[in-house]
Amino acid sequence: MEKRELIYEGKAKRVYATDQIGQVIHEFKDEATAFDGKKRGIIEGKGRVNAQMSDIIFRYLERRGIRTHHIKLLSENEILTWWLEMIPVEIIVRNYAAGSLAKRLGLPERTEMRSPLVEFYYKSDELGDPMLSREHVRELGLADEEQMDEMAAIALKVNDILRPYFEERGLVLADFKLEFGLREGRLYLGDEFSPDVCRLWDTETGEVMDKDRFRQDLGKVEETYAEVLRRIGEEETGITASVFISPKRGILDPAGQAALGALKSLGFDEVGEVRIGKYITLRLPGMEAERVMDRVREMCERLLANPIIEDYRIEIEE
Ligand SMILES: Nc1ncnc2c1ncn2[C@@H]1O[C@H](COP(=O)(O)OP(=O)(O)O)[C@@H](O)[C@H]1O
Ligand SMILES: [Mg+2]
Repeated sequence: MEKRELIYEGKAKRVYATDQIGQVIHEFKDEATAFDGKKRGIIEGKGRVNAQMSDIIFRYLERRGIRTHHIKLLSENEILTWWLEMIPVEIIVRNYAAGSLAKRLGLPERTEMRSPLVEFYYKSDELGDPMLSREHVRELGLADEEQMDEMAAIALKVNDILRPYFEERGLVLADFKLEFGLREGRLYLGDEFSPDVCRLWDTETGEVMDKDRFRQDLGKVEETYAEVLRRIGEEETGITASVFISPKRGILDPAGQAALGALKSLGFDEVGEVRIGKYITLRLPGMEAERVMDRVREMCERLLANPIIEDYRIEIEE
């Protein structure tokens, strides 16, 4: 992979061409801006955190069926992605009112939304990223109806995936911004996912864990970015194995028999057979994927299952 000419330099990243057609490198910068570029500064280590966090989050989303531009992390502050023809509409999802929304609607900071809000903004530095209605998007020809619906639906799905993801890591995902683009006629999630483009609050203390620390001069900016990456990066190495165990066909399964009888007596006549098994998940930190299957099979044979009377199936997720 060869890094070629600079295609575009934005506020947070430099985008470079590569020797691979259709693939670009995003180099994440430590420079930070806020309030339409009126506030500027350097957040030491931000480029590294944002590249690595984007890598982790995009891979996580890919595994859950979201199509993203992500290919791989190249170095501590560079990612390789598909080049997208970007749609100049920013999609914001809000679980809580904060910042501009709280001000505009007169809501107290951190008011929880009845259900997640999806908003559209025009990605235009000259105009200061104004909010757009669907009519505005249509009028400006920025995206068609179908693309608007698809972007909104994907944004909500991303929220459904990431809200519990951050919750498990002690962070409330208050809001976030997504950018989409087109490749071969299909919509892809692009840009980045980092504390620059979302609001995160510590679940226990309520402490601000995102770029608001920079915007509001709250101090400990570098430390906070590093802490967010630490929380989400911790269990990154390693693999999860799921084991599904069920009684073999033809083996007497008293629990299954009982459930079958009960279902029939409730009128579920369509059921012909019930087998009741168990579901086990194993975390294997620091293990290479190639060895996992053999090891887990051995665990099943020797302890987790009884191979004489039970079948088992193993699923592996990186
Ligand atoms: N996969 C991609 N292909 C092409 N451009 C992209 C891709 N992902 C993001 N971009 C664009 O790269 C530019 C650089 O990012 P950034 O520094 O965040 O810019 P900005 O100052 O506009 O926010 C942005 O215009 C962004 O929309
Ligand atoms: Mg940006």
